[in-house]
Amino acid sequence: MHTILRNSPLPRYHQLKEILRERVRSGEWKPGDLIPSERELSETYSISRMTARQAITDLVNEGVFYREQGRGTFVTQNKITQQLLHLTGFTEDIRARGQRPSTKVLTAEMRPADEVTAEHLRLDPGQPVFLLRRLRLADDEPLAIEVSALNFKGCERLAEEDLEHNSLYQLLESQYGLPLMEADQEIEAGLAGDEEAGILKIPAGSAVLYTRRTTFTDRNRPVEYATSVYRGNKYTFYTHLKRDRLFS
Ligand code: GLP
Repeated sequence: MHTILRNSPLPRYHQLKEILRERVRSGEWKPGDLIPSERELSETYSISRMTARQAITDLVNEGVFYREQGRGTFVTQNKITQQLLHLTGFTEDIRARGQRPSTKVLTAEMRPADEVTAEHLRLDPGQPVFLLRRLRLADDEPLAIEVSALNFKGCERLAEEDLEHNSLYQLLESQYGLPLMEADQEIEAGLAGDEEAGILKIPAGSAVLYTRRTTFTDRNRPVEYATSVYRGNKYTFYTHLKRDRLFS
């Protein structure tokens, strides 16, 4: 069993998070299992209850665990939580859950932008964009189809990249010098059409979630407009809300 290192530079709650994550990843704790209480964890690892609570809360926010009022905290039933607090990509979301992301490229070529894409990327319709259509999987299970239209100087070079084995966000940030700073995203419920259902290996008409995301660099310049379809029974979107004004 892993232990918490007292003189490590990593904060204790962070070390505990990784220990708990590993217990899920290794299969020791299965979806639906009740995890030990804050008190039990604080005794087992000789840490404060506050530290245990912080680690659990983080893993709840990341979708690894979920809480049920009065019953305790459980391992999530194979659902992926896409948190809507920080801008992260598919690879990061899946890795955070301890799963293995993979990608099948369906299309990767320059195409003229349609009207909606052009509007989001602040272009004229018909201007060339790099169109990337990918099937995204976690532990070899199909989860989403993501269609990204990309526009930046040199975007045609993406055709030469290994897009099956690289995260797009990582490529953009580390190879193309495009820090991704913010995004606008919409989410909508829908039913899978025949083609989507075939690719996602689900029955046609299954519940899905459509998202549309425009991602901007630090200069507030849109670089990607992506429309994605996620399997409805595999995704939870998490957000944290703050109230601005109270009823007086
Ligand atoms: C998300 C977004 C997409 C984005 C992708 C990048 O899922 N919806 O717009 O293209 O992440 O993921 P990765 O960095 O794994 O390629």
